[in-house]
Amino acid sequence: MQWKYTLSEPVLGAQELQAVTDCINSGWLSMGPRTKLFEERFAGKLGTGHAIAVSSGTAALHLALAVLGVGTGPDDEVVQPSINFVAGANMTKALGAKPVFADIVSTLEPTISPADIESKLNERTKAVMVMHFGGYCARMPEIMEICQARGIPVIEDACHAPMQDGEHSGRRLGTIGSIGCFSFFSNKNMTTAEGGMVVTDDDDLATRIRNIRSHGMTTSSWEKHHRLPGTYDVMVHGFNYRIDDLRSSLGLAQLDRLPESNQKRRALAACYGREIDRQLGNRALYIFGDRPMAGTAHLAGIVVDADIRDKIRKQLANQGVQSSLHYPPVHLFSAFDGSCPNGLPVSEEFSRGMITLPMHAGLGEVAVQDIVRVLVEAFDRHA
Ligand SMILES: Cc1ncc(COP(=O)(O)O)c(C=O)c1O
Repeated sequence: MQWKYTLSEPVLGAQELQAVTDCINSGWLSMGPRTKLFEERFAGKLGTGHAIAVSSGTAALHLALAVLGVGTGPDDEVVQPSINFVAGANMTKALGAKPVFADIVSTLEPTISPADIESKLNERTKAVMVMHFGGYCARMPEIMEICQARGIPVIEDACHAPMQDGEHSGRRLGTIGSIGCFSFFSNKNMTTAEGGMVVTDDDDLATRIRNIRSHGMTTSSWEKHHRLPGTYDVMVHGFNYRIDDLRSSLGLAQLDRLPESNQKRRALAACYGREIDRQLGNRALYIFGDRPMAGTAHLAGIVVDADIRDKIRKQLANQGVQSSLHYPPVHLFSAFDGSCPNGLPVSEEFSRGMITLPMHAGLGEVAVQDIVRVLVEAFDRHA
């Protein structure tokens, strides 16, 4: 399919090319000094004690769940949203624990509902995972109060929300709970192609995350390269979730670009709001339409009547506008069959009517106007 407007595109330029070239010329490609610098800069800008770079957002979530002891008890549960990418639920299962899905606040605010979290907590709950959908803050003050009162750690899936100020806490997203996780997959607001970051203020958790990122080994390849040949010990069982210096050099360049990219996305989110209002009126609900500037605007989404959703998407595709669905509810996937016997009415309603529209920092306001014009045509034809 030849798209006129793609859903997402990375913004890459001379800085990224130079950064990767410098890394190649340095002769050191695997995890080393550029990764250390990437971690230090990320932690500094985010305002967190520790940032540990890893090979993906999924790896970040796996490490976060593992160091919180998820799966060490026979019946461990992790309460989490079903409107999410499957990574969090898959990693919960990989550790032998049970994902317990909670509903979202509303179709216009598709982040996990504090009240539904509360109703699903019990003595088996090992952690609560929230996801800042589209880069918009979940209801953290209420969630933190509920979880802190019971001593339950909160993991923030902040994959959509790099360097976003929390609306209520004065802290950036990913630094409010015990551990925050980021993805740098190529459709994210900043990318290293594949990559991720785990952040925490807790020294002990950070040490353990670093250890199990690389097989629990006491020495890294970079250290061995710079020391007399020696041996190493393996203190705990771990994984190979290392990032490499090529990707970290990309990450450093993207980190510099991020404030401007996030600002462009916010302006586009506000533009979508104005255009949807002006051209579509109340035929579609604009997700987070009441606060387009308050997130990283990773996604632009609308909710329409479920009966016409697929027809509208088809019409968008015919006109060269790529669209998607964020997300099919995880509890309805075959692999999670039976995981939520009572269903999640708001999540299910949301996913039946949801459409994700193109959103990336390379898009302009004229493009947004055009996309909404195509939407109007699709509505006129099908509504
Ligand atoms: C909300 C969310 N969580 C987790 C992930 C997993 O990240 P990755 O693809 O880097 O493993 C993604 C990315 O696709 C995501 O969007």
